[in-house]
Amino acid sequence: MKAVIKGCKANFDIITTVPGDKSISHRSLIIGTIPKGVYTIENYAMSEDCKTTIEVLKSLGVSIVSHENKLLVNSPGVYEFHKDVEILDCKNSGTTARLISGLICGANIKTKLIGDESLSKRPMGRVIDPLEVMGGNIYDFKGTLPIRFEKNRGLTSIEYELPVPSAQVKSAVLIAGFLSNGVTKVIEPIPTRDHTENLFKFLGARVEKCGDKISIENSPIICKDIIVPADPSSASFLICAALLGHNIKLTVQNVLLNESRKTYIDILKAMGASIEIVGKGIVNNEPVGDLVVYSSELKGVKIEHHIIPSIIDEIPVLSVVAAFAAGETVFQGVEELKVKESDRVEGIVKNLRKANLKATYSNNNLIIQGFHVEGETSTEGSVSIETNNDHRIAMAFAILAMKLKATIIIDNWDCSEISFPDSKTYFSKFMNFMK
Ligand code: S3P
Repeated sequence: MKAVIKGCKANFDIITTVPGDKSISHRSLIIGTIPKGVYTIENYAMSEDCKTTIEVLKSLGVSIVSHENKLLVNSPGVYEFHKDVEILDCKNSGTTARLISGLICGANIKTKLIGDESLSKRPMGRVIDPLEVMGGNIYDFKGTLPIRFEKNRGLTSIEYELPVPSAQVKSAVLIAGFLSNGVTKVIEPIPTRDHTENLFKFLGARVEKCGDKISIENSPIICKDIIVPADPSSASFLICAALLGHNIKLTVQNVLLNESRKTYIDILKAMGASIEIVGKGIVNNEPVGDLVVYSSELKGVKIEHHIIPSIIDEIPVLSVVAAFAAGETVFQGVEELKVKESDRVEGIVKNLRKANLKATYSNNNLIIQGFHVEGETSTEGSVSIETNNDHRIAMAFAILAMKLKATIIIDNWDCSEISFPDSKTYFSKFMNFMK
């Protein structure tokens, strides 16, 4: 459904939270169900992607009962999962497809993995290559979904250097490695989010990090209750809306503050954003706290390529913010953005230009020229945003409403539910959704 968004709300002291973290929600089921047992997950993200993971685990034989965003999980243990499942549909969810591939090979399950049109275009060789080296038996693989997994003879451990900095690839290899014989080592020259390592450790696994090398081995783990902190990537949209608004104070409570996920806050601070971080403690090996944000005047920054993996999901919204910061912002080496749910480089550049804002892509760098004046830009009338059904493009460009006189028309707001359940309610705190 289209969203028509106009203007912004001003002079507000907003206190809110956002739904549970997407990455931790996926892992709380894909890794949490490896041991046999019963446990609960609190604040599970009931987004479309995370609901897909629920369905996939149910198809494999796990009992999951949900009440709002609390799950009661009863797992037979990974070795008792159904061994022959006709189809597992990962829909739009890259994290489900990549992580479950490691589990399918490790648990020796025969199945066919499929996805929607977007997921069926995204690269899977980066996951399948190491899994095949470990002994995974993949049939007739052409680089993308659908993928047919046949029974294998058991996996052997691997020492593997990630060819692309990807937490999804790292996680697939670590999950398969945990289910293999021997010690699996993954080398990541550029760090990526480490929720897989943190959760395995929380459940009792022997997993170590030494420099850029992570090692894991099959070791006794048990089911444990898991609490999912609020998603910092979802929070980023509200934070950026508050920054670009007028005299807004925003508090986002109980947000995941994992170092690998809060780099975008450091970048916003370097741009001049007033953001306070109030640490509150640790839940299942992950730091949690509140973020207090004040509307701020911003300036452009240069972001080097090794930082990109730790802000990969926030680049669309940071690009919109950069368009209203003084001077130029450069994101170096963003080619990975082209193989996300849509070609996000194209989505960012094309949609910013539609709003008469300046963005270019050359030599893998994304360059935004800030349009910096007090108040709103002169863009009037309406600006139609093409999302290509990409949730982060839809939400990033809603933030334009904070600065433009124009009405923002998002061609498909529903896709925001892929990662941000009930997104409209949260965004409505900042902007006026019109019929
Ligand atoms: C994710 C890792 C990132 C991110 C995605 C979630 C994860 O992808 O873009 O939204 O949960 O591991 P890559 O690691 O493939 O870049």
